[in-house]
Amino acid sequence: MNHKRKTQLFHFLDLLPRRFGFALYHTLQRLADKKSLPQKIQPAEATFRNAQTILQQHGINLESSSIIEIGSGWLPSIPYFFLSEAKVAEVHTYDFNQHYNTNAITALNAVFKERFPKSFPPIQPNNYGLAQGVTYHPKTNLIHSALPNSALVFSRFVLEHVTPEDLREMHQKFKKELPAGTHILHFISPSDHRAHSDRSLSLQDFLQYSEAEWNKIQTKFDYHNRLRLPQYLSLFKGCALEVLSVSHDNPDPESKRYQQFKAVTVHDDFKDFTEEELTAGSIVVLLKT
Ligand SMILES: C[S@@+](CC[C@H](N)C(=O)[O-])C[C@H]1O[C@@H](n2cnc3c(N)ncnc32)[C@H](O)[C@@H]1O
Repeated sequence: MNHKRKTQLFHFLDLLPRRFGFALYHTLQRLADKKSLPQKIQPAEATFRNAQTILQQHGINLESSSIIEIGSGWLPSIPYFFLSEAKVAEVHTYDFNQHYNTNAITALNAVFKERFPKSFPPIQPNNYGLAQGVTYHPKTNLIHSALPNSALVFSRFVLEHVTPEDLREMHQKFKKELPAGTHILHFISPSDHRAHSDRSLSLQDFLQYSEAEWNKIQTKFDYHNRLRLPQYLSLFKGCALEVLSVSHDNPDPESKRYQQFKAVTVHDDFKDFTEEELTAGSIVVLLKT
């Protein structure tokens, strides 16, 4: 969808009372959703495999442990892979909003039951039909919750949607309340998400705006903090967390994505970052309390 039309639509939804705005947002998302279930599971599985490799490299075994997921999203694919394959005992998944839907989860259950007949747990009938071991905490800000005992905190494509203040508080809380040595694994997408559905836009397009200008464009439906890689790393280090590993990608200088980046006049707020820092994408960070 053209990014300008999408922005207009989000601004309209943002004018409605919160409950109605979200109800309409979910209905429109369902209508616009053209992806099959396997097409939705596949990218989550790719992330899970990547996570498994990183965890193995650091000698982290989660079998029979509890873990926390920040940002449940629409489907519990990641919790299901952790339960069925990594043999995790329990996943507490938190979301600021409430996007889970029983019909979608019932369909996901059928796929996982067939794929993991021995290890996929039984269903809890009254809890969105979620598999046993998944505890969903919708409409919950983790910052104000008692943290369950956990061996890992995991997030996928969430931190970029959290305000810098909340990010700081969240990580201070992890440092303070989780046992020393607890691991935190984040997959972060720092790119302009409008460019995912409108490829005419650069993945760094939003860096041309001042904070005040960007706040006029974005809404609660598409909030993005625009933090760059060094800002995430200094935030984590500022919370006294140990950074065990960091990876990211950058556009190939021969690619269209790189040409699109070069055409953006970056706002003064971002002028102290190098080209590599501005374009760093697909960030994966492993931290330790
Ligand atoms: C892009 S979705 C990603 C969902 C899922 N992790 C995935 O990979 O498909 C971001 C999710 O994070 C949630 N979210 C945003 N800010 C949050 C916060 N501070 N705490 C918990 N969840 C948050 C949103 O409601 C949304 O469900």
